[in-house]
Amino acid sequence: MGSPAGFARILRAPGKTTVDHFDHRDGRLHCEHVPLDALAAEVGTPAFVYSASTIRDHASRLHEAFASLDPLICYAAKANSNLAVLELLAKEGCGFDIVSGGELARVLLAGGDPAKVVFSGVGKTEEEMDAAIRAGVLMFNVESEEELDVLGAVATRLELDAGVAIRVNPDVDPKTHRYITTGKKENKFGVDLERGEALARRAVAHPRLVLRGIQCHIGSQITDVKPFAEAVERTRDLALRLKPDAPDLAYLDMGGGYGIFYKDENAPSLKDYADVIEPVVKDCGLQLVMEPGRLIVGNAGVMLTRVLYNKTSGKRRFVIVDAGMNDLIRPSLYEGYHRIWPVTGEPPPPLGEEGDGDLVDVVGPVCESGDFFAVDRPLPVVTRGDLIAVMSVGAYAAVMGSNYNDRPRPPEVLVDGDRFAVVRERETHADMMRKERPDATYRSLGTSEGAST
Ligand code: LLP
Repeated sequence: MGSPAGFARILRAPGKTTVDHFDHRDGRLHCEHVPLDALAAEVGTPAFVYSASTIRDHASRLHEAFASLDPLICYAAKANSNLAVLELLAKEGCGFDIVSGGELARVLLAGGDPAKVVFSGVGKTEEEMDAAIRAGVLMFNVESEEELDVLGAVATRLELDAGVAIRVNPDVDPKTHRYITTGKKENKFGVDLERGEALARRAVAHPRLVLRGIQCHIGSQITDVKPFAEAVERTRDLALRLKPDAPDLAYLDMGGGYGIFYKDENAPSLKDYADVIEPVVKDCGLQLVMEPGRLIVGNAGVMLTRVLYNKTSGKRRFVIVDAGMNDLIRPSLYEGYHRIWPVTGEPPPPLGEEGDGDLVDVVGPVCESGDFFAVDRPLPVVTRGDLIAVMSVGAYAAVMGSNYNDRPRPPEVLVDGDRFAVVRERETHADMMRKERPDATYRSLGTSEGAST
């Protein structure tokens, strides 16, 4: 295993061309010991391939970097909620950050410990609260006055206690894409610090609510430690003000958001993060909770896709591949950058460099101009049938997929050493139509299904 100093430095090691357990060897990109051209021949394209060793390494390096605080690491299931990935992380001792009843069901099925589950999100329904209280989750990250009232009512009805953390908005600018900024006053998330204090006191006074924590999450793909430092201090100060009146207040939950390497980001190392968080949290009498998603799985996945056609239009050159924005929407939605390189042949240029080659747009088959993976990207010449890897798609890729244009979702494959398992099968056309009932009988409200009126 690499040094606990953090991924960023390992990734930028001189000469390294790919991240973590993905390597070009003998002219072929491998995931751990599995050559990806051979794997694609077996499972077809497009396909997501994840490295189990990378996921495990990231979880344990995070533990090591923050060892002196012994944090509760609640992996943000939204980043990649494949059951096999959740199971793997549950076995590593991780808890989970969930945002829906669906994620709760997955985490429980995967063997996650409910006592290590935090439930985030601005719009939890009563049904979701009900299921999570019954399951015994550690705490709900409450984001508004109304939500606190509804949670209190659900807990009272169930005659069960509900753990609460108040999500505060420390009003810091994480300097990331505006769609993934959450900690500024004008974002829909959390409550400001003054409201947060009042809300926390209301939770303490409620007979069925137990104030267990103060939480904040300022954004995602943050590549500067300063906003974290500011946020952790403001959040801790509020928690310490409340503590004398809140006997069960035990957790300081700093959310996720740790940036990873997609291109040439100067992403801080884990040690850099630990250096600013540790002094603020150590000896304050609260246990640190972390909700990393991307950091654990982002660099642990590639998407394999085949070249369908090359074409030129005006001055632009297009490489049309068999994956589309329905499979990976990050470039279209956030202008997200993903390294792209042929699976066989010359290895890619060292990390942080684009190399030279003809500038092309790598696009998918979906009928939208926004269906692209790269614009003006230097790429070696590729021809029909060539296999291409789109890198760093372990987070927010498969989970954000859709069936748009009636395209079946790709399979997800987990590699461990020299073996692989298809942990989600490719969808079929029948799968996509399974819930549709074109012959359903029309009925009036108030009559039972199919009854004639
Ligand atoms: N905790 C909370 C409350 C969150 O809202 C999020 C992410 C996380 C933890 C995990 O953040 P991470 O460590 O992965 O940055 N789809 C976007 C990212 C959306 C993030 C939403 N919240 C993307 O593809 O960049």
